This record gives sequence, C-alpha cells and structure tokens, in this order.
Amino acid sequence: MYRKLFFWGNVVLFVLLILAIAKDTFRPWMPYQRAYRRMQAAAEAAPEARRIILGRPIQIKQTILTDLGEVDRCITCHQGMDPIATPTLANAFTDNPHKAHPSDFLKNHPPETFGCVTCHRGQGLSTTFIDAGHTPRDEAQKAAWKKKHGWEPADHWEYPMLTGPYLQASCVKCHGDFESLHGLEAAVRGKRLLRAHGCMGCHQWRGEGGPVSVDLAEETANKPLSRIDFSNTGLDPEDRTLLNWIRLHFVKDPWALVPGDPAAKYNAEPIAPSGMPDFRDELSEEDAAALTTYILSGQSANIPHTYHVSGPKEPTFQSLRFGSRAQAGKWVYDQYGCAGCHGLNGKGGRRNFNYTGGLEPALVKSVATFTREELREKIEDGVMVVTKEDPQGPTPPLYMPPWKDKIKGEEMEALLDYLFSIGEKQEEWGG
Ligand code: HEC
Ligand code: HEC
Ligand code: HEC
Ligand code: HEC
Ligand code: HEC
Repeated sequence: MYRKLFFWGNVVLFVLLILAIAKDTFRPWMPYQRAYRRMQAAAEAAPEARRIILGRPIQIKQTILTDLGEVDRCITCHQGMDPIATPTLANAFTDNPHKAHPSDFLKNHPPETFGCVTCHRGQGLSTTFIDAGHTPRDEAQKAAWKKKHGWEPADHWEYPMLTGPYLQASCVKCHGDFESLHGLEAAVRGKRLLRAHGCMGCHQWRGEGGPVSVDLAEETANKPLSRIDFSNTGLDPEDRTLLNWIRLHFVKDPWALVPGDPAAKYNAEPIAPSGMPDFRDELSEEDAAALTTYILSGQSANIPHTYHVSGPKEPTFQSLRFGSRAQAGKWVYDQYGCAGCHGLNGKGGRRNFNYTGGLEPALVKSVATFTREELREKIEDGVMVVTKEDPQGPTPPLYMPPWKDKIKGEEMEALLDYLFSIGEKQEEWGG
C-alpha cells in the first residue's frame, strides 16, 4: 500500500520535473530568437560568420537603466533592434519582431541608455507578447492579434504601449524643443488647440489656468483607472484605457459621459451633468487625437535632468509683438481661456446646464452694454453664483471666475480693447 503510494508519488514528481524543464526550454520568446538566428545565418555567406551567429546563446536580453529606473527586455524578442545581435544585417528583415527599428530613433537614443519603454511605454520586464502591453493600432490589427497571439490587455498594467500619433507624447517629456522637431505634429497641434479652444479657462496645465475643473497634466494624465467611471463610455472592457477616456471627451457628448443626476434620482441633491462643453462641431477626429497626445505628455515620469533637451522659453505678453492693442487683447483672451465659456471670438454657444437661458453670454452681444470700468470690474470680480433656470434643479456647473489675480495692467487694457473691438454695437461707443 505505502509502496504503491511511494511509487506513484515519485511518478508525479518526475512528471512535474519534466514539465518544469519543458517550460524553461520553451519560453514564449524563444522561437522568435531561434528564428532570428536561423534567418540571420541563412543570409550570411561566410561559414565562419554563420557559425558565430548560430553559436550565440538563446537567452533573455535585458538592459538595466538605473538612471531611468527601468529594466527593459523588449529586445529579447525584437532581436533586429538589439545592437549586439545586429551589427551588420540591420535591414535584412521586414517583419516584427525581427525587423530593424525604423528611422534614426535608436541612433539618436541608443538602447543602452534609453531602452524602449521610455518612448513606447509597455511593461519592460515582461517577456510575453501580452504582458509586454502591445497595443493594436486599429480594429483590424486587434482582430489579427487576437487570432495570432491571443491578444488581450496586460493584466494589472496601466501603461499599455502608445501607437500612432500617441507615441509623440513620450517625446514631449524630454524634448523642450519638441515644437521644432520633425514628426511631432500631433503633439504640437494638441498644445496649440488647448489654447485656441479655451480649455485653460476651466482646466489647468501644471498649476496655471482657470479654477473650474482638473489639472489636465498633473491630475488627468496621471489618473489611475480605478478612479475613472467607464460605465457611460460604451467601451468594451479591453478598451478601457486612460487614453480612450481622454479622447472620448472630444468625440462624444460629455453630458453622455458624465450625466450627473439632474433629477436627483439617486442622490439627495440634484447634480448637473458635466460642465465640459460639447466640442464635436469644433474639433475633428484628428484634433481629438492631437489633444489626447498632448495631454498624455503630462504624465509624470522619473526622467533625470541629463535626459532633458532644453527648448525656447514660452512666449509671454511682454516678449511678443502685436500689430495693435486689440490684437494683443485677442492673445490675452485665448491665453486665459475665455473662449472655453464664451466661445471662439466671444461668439457664445457654450452651454451651462440649468443656467438661465442655458448658454454662456455671447460677449459680442453684451460688451457694448458696459462702460470700460464696468467691464473691467466684471472681469476682475467674476460672478460666482449664477441664476438657475429651474430653481429646483441643480446648481449650474459653470460660473464666471474672478480674474483679478491673473490679468492685470497692460494685459487687462489690451483685453478690454479687444472685447470692445468685437462688440456688435461698437460704433455707438465712438471709440
Ligand atoms: C514575446 C516576444 C515579444 C516581446 C517581449 C516584445 N514584443 Fe513587440 N512584438 C512582438 C511580435 C511578435 C510583434 C508583431 C506582432 C504582429 O504583428 O503579429 C511585435 C510588435 C511590436 C510593435 C509593432 C506594433 C505594430 O504597430 O505593428 C511594437 C511597437 C513593439 N512590438 C514594441 C515592443 C516593446 C516596446 C516591447 C517591450 C516593452 C516589446 N515589443 C516586447 C513580440 C514581442
Ligand atoms: C526615441 C523614441 C524611441 C525609442 C527609444 C524606441 N522607439 Fe521604437 N519607435 C519609435 C517611433 C516614433 C516609432 C514609429 C515610427 C514610425 O511609425 O515611423 C517606433 C516604431 C517601432 C516599431 C514598429 C516598427 C514598424 O514599423 O512596424 C517597433 C517594433 C519598435 N519601435 C520597437 C522598439 C524597441 C524594441 C525599442 C528598444 C530597443 C525601441 N523601439 C526604442 C520610437 C522609439
Ligand atoms: C528620455 C528622454 C527622451 C525621449 C523620450 C526622447 N528623446 Fe529625443 N533625444 C533625447 C536626448 C537627451 C537627445 C540628445 C540631444 C543632444 O545630443 O543634444 C535626443 C536626441 C534626439 C534627436 C536628434 C537631435 C536633435 O535634437 O535633432 C531627435 C531628432 C530626437 N531626439 C527626436 C525624438 C523623438 C521624435 C522622440 C519621440 C519619439 C524622442 N526624441 C524621445 C531625449 C529623449
Ligand atoms: C468657466 C466659465 C467662464 C470663463 C472661463 C469665463 N467666463 Fe465670463 N462669464 C461666465 C458666466 C457664467 C457669465 C455670466 C455671469 C452671470 O450670469 O452674471 C460670464 C459673464 C461674463 C461677462 C459679462 C457678460 C454679460 O453678458 O453679462 C464678461 C464681460 C465676461 N464674462 C468676460 C470674460 C472674460 C474676458 C473671460 C476670460 C478672461 C471670461 N469671461 C472667462 C463664465 C465664464
Ligand atoms: C467650460 C469649462 C470647460 C472647458 C472649456 C473645458 N472643459 Fe474639460 N472638463 C470640464 C469639467 C467640468 C470636467 C469634469 C467632468 C467631466 O469629466 O466631464 C472636464 C473634464 C475633462 C476631461 C476628463 C478629465 C478627467 O480627469 O477625468 C478632459 C480630458 C478634458 N476635460 C479636456 C478638455 C480639453 C482638452 C478642453 C479644451 C478643448 C476642455 N476640456 C475644455 C470643463 C471644461
């Protein structure tokens, strides 16, 4: 009886041992490395070189980037990008993971000091296709990857790889000069749109901006998934990423994303839906991707000073030259995000839930009813409590912030000139 148990026990142990060895011998990355050796050797004419290539060990390749606090194993599979495995045959193969890296990226950023995830994101330590955090660039590639690699998002990993234009978010973190670099059009455009459409009237960027909503760099770009309510996004669980949450704010109606509880069905007090305007008739899909790219660049990263490339200083009111004081005022209007609530060029159209009339004042219609002093005072003091359309309904999410701590002196004078210049009954004021 005991002997039998002993015998079978040993058989089980033996089988487990074989399985353990097998698992070690057939790691998911190994076939890629073996195939690379074979292909590389076949492309090599000299027998001596072939022998050396085939003699290279099959092993995990890792780069330890102490400065960046990262360990990077991507080249374990992406052998065509391993500077040691690929001295001569850089462009011999055309398919991932064996092809060489496109363009000059690795020349300008040697893998020994930059690794891969500083640009691509993903999980550097992983050696499987799924855990590395590969992100398909579109639905067709997603379907193909599901078939071929059993693709799904990496478990417990919040920084999947960035693809397409979104990859540019990484460059901005190091390159203060990104606006003059080639290939960063989306990031540059995103930065410009953030000013032009008045996002900064409500949001901040690293502390600067209006008081109504969150800091897009410090808070949004670093928002953990657990703090995002995806329930109204219509996204499949596999698409519930921070990137998509941000992007949806420009391609969907924010009232649908963040509907609040205006009829107080679930809460003691009614809650207005999102104060975020619906930008769909102002922003294209490409604009949405550009804004998302630039916002993602706000993600904090442990990048030491030696990796930073400095750029020109941000232009200021003082450093810029304008054709007239009214034109200078247009710059002030955009810089502080007045358009966020009052629309492009003060034309209005932005909504405010349960605010009298529902829409923010169109300044082109109302400035002419103020004297210069009244207008200055209105802008300096703001209007913290606005009137409700339905007294029982929720507090409107938007109010007029006071600007006196931010806009002063010449900036204020220029802004007033600009506002009077766009006012529709301007001629009655006789300049
Ligand atoms: C287990 C092997 C393996 C590891 C580890 C791995 N990759 Fe890949 N990678 C692949 C394969 C295979 C493909 C090609 C997939 C396909 O198109 O079928 C690929 C494709 C890619 C692509 C191209 C995606 C596209 O748009 O076609 C990028 C970028 C990439 N990998 C980056 C990385 C980075 C960065 C890492 C490290 C965090 C990494 N990979 C780790 C196997 C790997
Ligand atoms: C300086 C930033 C940067 C670094 C560092 C970097 N890459 Fe890339 N990589 C890019 C960009 C940008 C692209 C897209 C290029 C394009 O589409 O023209 C890219 C493209 C790729 C592709 C897709 C190639 C294709 O066309 O299918 C793969 C795979 C890849 N990189 C892997 C890696 C690996 C592995 C490393 C580390 C050895 C690495 N990259 C390091 C920026 C970088
Ligand atoms: C981790 C920081 C870091 C990231 C991320 C990064 N770079 Fe760089 N890049 C550098 C540094 C440092 C240099 C070297 C600058 C020098 O030698 O003056 C450099 C050099 C370059 C150069 C050549 C020198 C020049 O300024 O013309 C180009 C082009 C470039 N990077 C583009 C990119 C692009 C595009 C991306 C994103 C795909 C990117 N970089 C991502 C830090 C970074
Ligand atoms: C967060 C939204 C928001 C931002 C940003 C904002 N405003 Fe307002 N503004 C309002 C609201 C709401 C009112 C209406 C207050 C009321 O009901 O009395 C208002 C009223 C005004 C008025 C009075 C117009 C009228 O018809 O009563 C002026 C002038 C004005 N804002 C100028 C500006 C300027 C200039 C800026 C940029 C420096 C700016 N606002 C930024 C929300 C905003
Ligand atoms: C009138 C004020 C206002 C303006 C203008 C505005 N937003 Fe918002 N935004 C909000 C409010 C309020 C929220 C929070 C509620 C929500 O998630 O919809 C928000 C949410 C967001 C979020 C999600 C933030 C998070 O941390 O979950 C993003 C991203 C965003 N806005 C980007 C932008 C961009 C980019 C612009 C300019 C094109 C912009 N917003 C203009 C008021 C505004």
